[in-house]
Amino acid sequence: MRRMETEQFAIEQQDKREQIEQLLENALPQEISYQKTIRDAMEYSLMAGGKRLRPMLLMESYRLFGGKDMDSVSPFMVAMELIHTYSLVHDDLPAMDNDEYRRGRKTTHVVYGEDMGILAGDALLNYAYEMAGQGVRAAEPMECGLRALEILAHKAGIHGMVGGQVVDVELTGQAIDEERLQFIYQLKTGALIEASLMMGAALAGASEADIQRMEQIGRNVGMAFQIQDDILDLVSTTEELGKPVHSDEKNEKTTYVTIHGIEKAKEAVEQYSETALDLLEGMDVSNDFLNTLIETLIRRKK
Ligand code: IPE
Ligand code: IPE
Ligand code: MG
Ligand code: MG
Ligand code: MG
Repeated sequence: MRRMETEQFAIEQQDKREQIEQLLENALPQEISYQKTIRDAMEYSLMAGGKRLRPMLLMESYRLFGGKDMDSVSPFMVAMELIHTYSLVHDDLPAMDNDEYRRGRKTTHVVYGEDMGILAGDALLNYAYEMAGQGVRAAEPMECGLRALEILAHKAGIHGMVGGQVVDVELTGQAIDEERLQFIYQLKTGALIEASLMMGAALAGASEADIQRMEQIGRNVGMAFQIQDDILDLVSTTEELGKPVHSDEKNEKTTYVTIHGIEKAKEAVEQYSETALDLLEGMDVSNDFLNTLIETLIRRKK
């Protein structure tokens, strides 16, 4: 399988990240009256410098299937990052993980108050669907845009991220079996990663079979990503991560690491990532940047 040379990849990744930052900045609501506080809170959480992994996966999946025109894919990239950001704002609330740092700053509820934290999440979520609407209109044919919208809504809600968060919160402080752990990881983290890869494919007009292949790839990337997140929660530092370490211990979360230990967890990250790469290799289209991106996630430090 073809991969990019490290230096070239790093340059391109940085370029792409900046491109995404620009899209996000331009998409923020302009016309504001008395509700300015919520716009500020949205910007505060969104423009705090995340890795922008999901919009990047969406774009690269679109390119994988030959997509070129950015008019329809850009609003969906923004929508995906808005939903991801809302999930983080709510995840950090006192009623959930009760964390005070995110993306290198104080969390939104700490700065703006818990009421505004909740509302900022709500606003990000709804604004995401305004953006997605733009994406649908720009899609050629519009049918592809509708498919992307369907995927987004499905994977963000009860059958996806929200569903996973529910079980995560419900089982906090309890021993969890392997099957339920898989369920939580696949939904709370995997679903938005799956959705990103699936939506890129859908927008480029890929077949349902290919969209499902991207779902499988996303499922493996998602598992690897969450297990690595658990590892970093234990071995990294707040400075490097931009969010508190030992949050899982504080909240008495059962994680892949608490069940299997850190060495097995590292192996699992590698295995899931390799499965994702094998599935990608088995397709008759290829994207060197995407291959390299998934591979670099194995050793990610933040
Ligand atoms: C954090 O996601 C939440 C998880 C699903 C583990 P990221 O690690 O992608 O967070 P940002 O977007 O870079 O801040
Ligand atoms: C996050 O899981 C999943 C989300 C849907 C936000 P975590 O609770 O482990 O994420 P972090 O570590 O706070 O980013
Ligand atoms: Mg959580
Ligand atoms: Mg958390
Ligand atoms: Mg975590």
